[in-house]
Amino acid sequence: MESLLLGAGLLLGAYVLVYYNLVKAPPCGGIGSLRGRTAVVTGANSGIGKMTALELARRGARVVLACRSRERGEAAAFDLRQESGNNEVIFMALDLASLASVRAFATAFLSSEPRLDILIHNAGISSCGRTREAFNLLLRVNHVSPFLLTHLLLPHLRMCAPSRVVVVSSAAHRRGHLDFTRLNHPVIGWRQELRAYADSKLANVLFARELATQLEGTGITCYAAHPGPVNSELFLRHVPGWLCPFLRPLAWLVLRTPGGGAQTPLYCALQEGIEPLSGRYFANCHVEEVPPAARDDQSAHRLWEASKRLAGLEPVEDDNPDEEIQPEDPGAPSSLSTSLPEEPIVSEFSPGKQRSQDFSKLTQRIQVKAEPEPQGS
Ligand SMILES: NC(=O)c1ccc[n+]([C@@H]2O[C@H](COP(=O)([O-])OP(=O)(O)OC[C@H]3O[C@@H](n4cnc5c(N)ncnc54)[C@H](OP(=O)(O)O)[C@@H]3O)[C@@H](O)[C@H]2O)c1
Repeated sequence: MESLLLGAGLLLGAYVLVYYNLVKAPPCGGIGSLRGRTAVVTGANSGIGKMTALELARRGARVVLACRSRERGEAAAFDLRQESGNNEVIFMALDLASLASVRAFATAFLSSEPRLDILIHNAGISSCGRTREAFNLLLRVNHVSPFLLTHLLLPHLRMCAPSRVVVVSSAAHRRGHLDFTRLNHPVIGWRQELRAYADSKLANVLFARELATQLEGTGITCYAAHPGPVNSELFLRHVPGWLCPFLRPLAWLVLRTPGGGAQTPLYCALQEGIEPLSGRYFANCHVEEVPPAARDDQSAHRLWEASKRLAGLEPVEDDNPDEEIQPEDPGAPSSLSTSLPEEPIVSEFSPGKQRSQDFSKLTQRIQVKAEPEPQGS
């Protein structure tokens, strides 16, 4: 009996240690009142995105929940208005699997909302589910569409500077490897999906890095944030039904709550004084060093150029040996989207004069860029 009690005590002690050191998230802090500011959170109807939106609403921001399902999005907006006591929480339709939907969202947003202070790219998928697309759906949802959305919403972000863009990435980026010759190849089977997920999260880190370079001096800063291992539907929704009763209690014990997972994205959106760390990767509300592949400026720039083509912002060149990118109809509806009219594409990132100016800045940074010392990590 005594040894049983001792064993239980040791187990409990070990769990408390693991909980406080690995599971429990540090609170984000940051600007207390967001009254008068507007935030967009993608994929805000569940998990980390919903908790992120809740905290922004509690602090008084107008929060736009950019979600693909009207039903789930409206339901989340209702919940969040109730829980936060803030009536300025609204749903707007955005399906990141469709570039046409991204453009339609941007048009609707820019014409109905006068400002944008915080843009949080939270939505993400870890699997293609049952959809079979002729392109890399994981890269599309997790990186290419957020890239396009940032580009389209830049006028408002510029106008409201100092403003912020947060890209919710993952520690999985450490396993990522970008093969520029197969960037947009369809992903088939769970092994390829795991790889494509890690690659898309590496793309998030490189995107934040390059965006910071491109937007230097504009007052818009950007960050990649890892929420930690979180008990959400991200992976569980693709687990066979019979496994769920075993995995759910385990996930509840050893993973963070979605509210805990929201802390680092919120930190990146709200913490004062982190502007000099624009472009860096954060975890547990601290800046963290990333592996060489995730701080390779040439790779970041190459991804930027490829993303412009994948997002339909630049024509695909036949003689480009770099990427094997199938020219897609940017308006082609995905299996999840509705057809929307195409709009003229106006590139905010690359207007002739600005572009050459930005690119010369970029070349300089490639030569001289030194990582600032991580603070507190
Ligand atoms: N959970 C973790 O352990 C973990 C760890 C590291 C990083 N992350 C990152 O955290 C972010 C949030 O994940 P989560 O854990 O909160 O997962 P989640 O609960 O599955 O939430 C994902 C959200 O993305 C939305 N979404 C999926 N496809 C979309 C599309 N085509 N268009 C618009 N929205 C779409 C989902 O909407 P529906 O409800 O309509 O599907 C949902 O609202 C992701 O970027 C993920 O990679 C999570």
